[in-house]
Amino acid sequence: MSDLVYLGGTIVPRGRAAVSIDDRGFLFGDAVYEVIRAVRGRFVEPERHLRRLERSLREISLPAPRLDLLRIAAELIRRNGLDDREAMVYAQVSRGVAVRQHAFPPGGTDPTVLVTATAFAPRTELLAKGAAAITLPDLRWSRCDIKSVDLLPNVLAAQRAAEADAFEAILLRDGKVTEATRSNVLAVVDGVVRTHPTGPLILPGITREVVLELACAAGIPVREDAVGLDELLAAEEVLLTGTTADVMPVVAIDRRAVGGGRPGPVGRRLGTMLAGRIGVPAPGA
Ligand code: PDD
Repeated sequence: MSDLVYLGGTIVPRGRAAVSIDDRGFLFGDAVYEVIRAVRGRFVEPERHLRRLERSLREISLPAPRLDLLRIAAELIRRNGLDDREAMVYAQVSRGVAVRQHAFPPGGTDPTVLVTATAFAPRTELLAKGAAAITLPDLRWSRCDIKSVDLLPNVLAAQRAAEADAFEAILLRDGKVTEATRSNVLAVVDGVVRTHPTGPLILPGITREVVLELACAAGIPVREDAVGLDELLAAEEVLLTGTTADVMPVVAIDRRAVGGGRPGPVGRRLGTMLAGRIGVPAPGA
């Protein structure tokens, strides 16, 4: 199957796509990104993702590039033969190529835009039986609401999770759960779905937003109020939400069972509602 990508205005084979050593995304991590799912060629929540990308760009004072991201992504999906299955679209915008200096480059420097579309296989088995997680301190900066490519703390925490055979690392700041390395965290405590409020300390996850809306519509109580470690470990259910995680039940944290060690009813309900909305099979179906 062909693997074409969009870079700097043209569509080229992945192996021929290269960025300059002077690209500010490469040198400084001066770039933002989005990950959008497509199911049989149909994008999942495209407007919300585009809105979040525009916001990330605005927050780092990088003018939005004039291009139709979804049209480019749709072309990549088609030409890569992904329109009959699930795909992940990755879009990254950096502040472009310039002589290395920390302050912004001269006006008129073109941003570097990269778009890729690759096949995606949901973690069907894990969604049905539940995943393990570990907890770690949240060592990230205080603008986690910007979807920036500076992911070193996330990378290091995800590696710790992988070494512990866990799916995710749940991060804590000042004793409260913020989110995980690539997903948001929800905990069911006394029948209420609790999660860290949006703001500078978490990424405003699109899946989080949709799942909270689905919960409200279904009459499941929701409170945007972060849980502490004790509440997390004693929660009836712990869930991760994300474009690649769907609604992932967490059944063990730091090698101790949570929620009785098996997926619970709230997660199953929310996972089924999300799957219906996205157009994929319900977990465990
Ligand atoms: N990550 N929190 C963090 C830190 C994330 O990186 C992500 C997504 C999420 C979930 O957001 P959403 O529901 O919009 O996907 C929460 C993407 C998938 C990634 O970096 O690959």
